[in-house]
Amino acid sequence: MLKCTHQRVVVGPGDDAGVLRFKSNLLVETVDVITPIVDDPYTFGAICAANSVSDVYAMGGRPLSALAILGFSSCDYPSSAVKSLLKGCIDKLKEAGACLIGGHSIDDKEFKFGLAVTGAIDNKTILKVAGASAGEVLILTKPLGTGIITSAAKRGKVKSAALNRVIASMLKLNKTASMAAVACGSQSATDVTGFGLLGHGLNMAKSSKADLVIFYDKVPLMDEVKKCAAAGLVPKGAQRNLEFCKKDVIFSNGISKEEQLILSDPQTSGGLLIALPPKGLKKFDRIAKKERMPYWIIGEVIKGKGRIIVR
Ligand code: CO
Ligand code: CO
Repeated sequence: MLKCTHQRVVVGPGDDAGVLRFKSNLLVETVDVITPIVDDPYTFGAICAANSVSDVYAMGGRPLSALAILGFSSCDYPSSAVKSLLKGCIDKLKEAGACLIGGHSIDDKEFKFGLAVTGAIDNKTILKVAGASAGEVLILTKPLGTGIITSAAKRGKVKSAALNRVIASMLKLNKTASMAAVACGSQSATDVTGFGLLGHGLNMAKSSKADLVIFYDKVPLMDEVKKCAAAGLVPKGAQRNLEFCKKDVIFSNGISKEEQLILSDPQTSGGLLIALPPKGLKKFDRIAKKERMPYWIIGEVIKGKGRIIVR
């Protein structure tokens, strides 16, 4: 693991984003780049923006500005597609209260797009990945399955209604989830992205020197995820994630290989995994209802040494 001990650094590598002190202010900074997961450039730009600002929300911050990074081959992509992409990105950033202030493009055979995001954060309410404590409940704010569904959709194996619901979920900002976590006394959150629920959960467990218990039946799944997993339509990333995590995960006998893969499915613009003191639950529920934000209590934090137990 990279380490940075500079006195300006408040949170270094290993968390969702870095936090830096500059004079009396704290800045939170992160970068994320992804390859297309939907065909429409406007939608892809908006998903990229939601995905990139998510790490700022996962720290309990609010995004202020972003720089775009675009890799594409100008022979293969018309400038109108790039314009739509940027429009989608700018509109989503606006919804997050942030603005695009520049960027850079490179010639690349494989299309890529992402953002470096800077935000503001309060020293007293940073949601560190290392902040989870025994006795807290685990909350997840989006269903799992974006990797499984988008890759199955590329092979024409899911209904468009199911894909559309996944797209709507990826477009959703983690803004309310972040604000609710901070307002209800959470000290720890992370966003569920490329390493899946198990990968990001393990990062929280190890950093916090605690174990996470996850109740499989409580974990929300997107439509058709079970069907796709049963048909073997699981992206390679899920298999890699499971391979990487399994030595630190204890699965109960009832948890099938398919279910293990679903918990390892790489997410794009996934929800927040929040460790919340039980006394904050009532208020969390109030905020969630008011803001119409779905959430699921999927488990709990117990004393331990950095493992996940799936029951
Ligand atoms: Co993250
Ligand atoms: Co990230």
